[in-house]
Amino acid sequence: AGLDTAAAAIGKLYFGTATDNPELTDTAYVSQLNNTADFGQITPGNSQKWDATEPSQNTFTFANGDTIAKLAEANGQKLRCHNLVWHNQLPSWVTSGTWTNATLVAALKNHITNVVTHYKGQCYAWDVVNEALNEDGTYRTSIWYETIGEAYIPIAFATAAAADPNVKLYYNDYNIEYSGSKATGAANIVKLIQSYGVKVDGVGLQSHFIVGSTPSQSNQASTMASYTALGVEVAITELDIRMTLPSTDALLAQQSTDYSSTVGACVETKGCVGITIWDWTDKYSWVPSTFSGQGAACPWDANFVKKPAYTGILTALGGT
Ligand code: G3I
Repeated sequence: AGLDTAAAAIGKLYFGTATDNPELTDTAYVSQLNNTADFGQITPGNSQKWDATEPSQNTFTFANGDTIAKLAEANGQKLRCHNLVWHNQLPSWVTSGTWTNATLVAALKNHITNVVTHYKGQCYAWDVVNEALNEDGTYRTSIWYETIGEAYIPIAFATAAAADPNVKLYYNDYNIEYSGSKATGAANIVKLIQSYGVKVDGVGLQSHFIVGSTPSQSNQASTMASYTALGVEVAITELDIRMTLPSTDALLAQQSTDYSSTVGACVETKGCVGITIWDWTDKYSWVPSTFSGQGAACPWDANFVKKPAYTGILTALGGT
């Protein structure tokens, strides 16, 4: 059995991975990406973001996103679509524009309507708003928050719902996987959207963790329950567990334990629909370029050899 096969056998919708266009020239990489026993779902790591899809105002470019959407369709894999509104990877026409509340709301709605309409029927879910919170649970300073206020969030969800009534609409963030102010902030975002009478379907737990300091399974599960109590589903959307290099047998064993407890939290939570790793191989992980001296965060090493983490995940899913 593979990871997705095992996830399906216990009633989850998918186990999947992020990928990105440059990697698709690597044929050995693509052959594992296409292994649907392991991956029943894929997420484009960059090619549906604002800078990729609307590089200049009202000019939309979907070629790279479409490449990944077509790959998913050809493989019969679900597509998680990522993301519509974020403070990062915005083109300069957005970040350096002169905006009023009205003109920025119009630009936001135009972006969401065009992108969601283009991918209508192709996505299981959209990450509608990504990383709106500071670590203390207050709203992050961004062009969106400063110009529109918190209403940009329900406006974004309402616009996405109008463009595709059948896609699941998620709020997605990191460090909201364990109890604390930021998790409370994420729950408050769900309540805010609901208070506007607008549809919100899920909370995405990015789950970018660190070997040896991954939150416990019980804390992750109780935090998932704090969201599902609001009537939404949850998913683990960007899982990886990094370490300070070099990797050792002890670190790899701890990493397997940490993957297992994280996957286990989703397994024990009925409203946790699926798990996505933020790419499957250390060869293409985002971690080393962002955290100097850290890496080895994925379940497969840079030579595409399975690490102990693979077995930790499979076992947590009840597979053998
Ligand atoms: O597209 C340019 C290319 O033209 C240029 O030659 C190259 C040189 O550095 O950079 C390319 O842009 C890079 C882009 O990925 C596409 O490859 C950026 O430098 C790089 O910063 C960017 O990193 C992405 C990161 O988001 C940006 O914040 C990662 O690949 C992507 O995995 C990462 O994903 C995020 C999620 O969207 C949200 N949650 C956190 C997660 C990890 O940071």
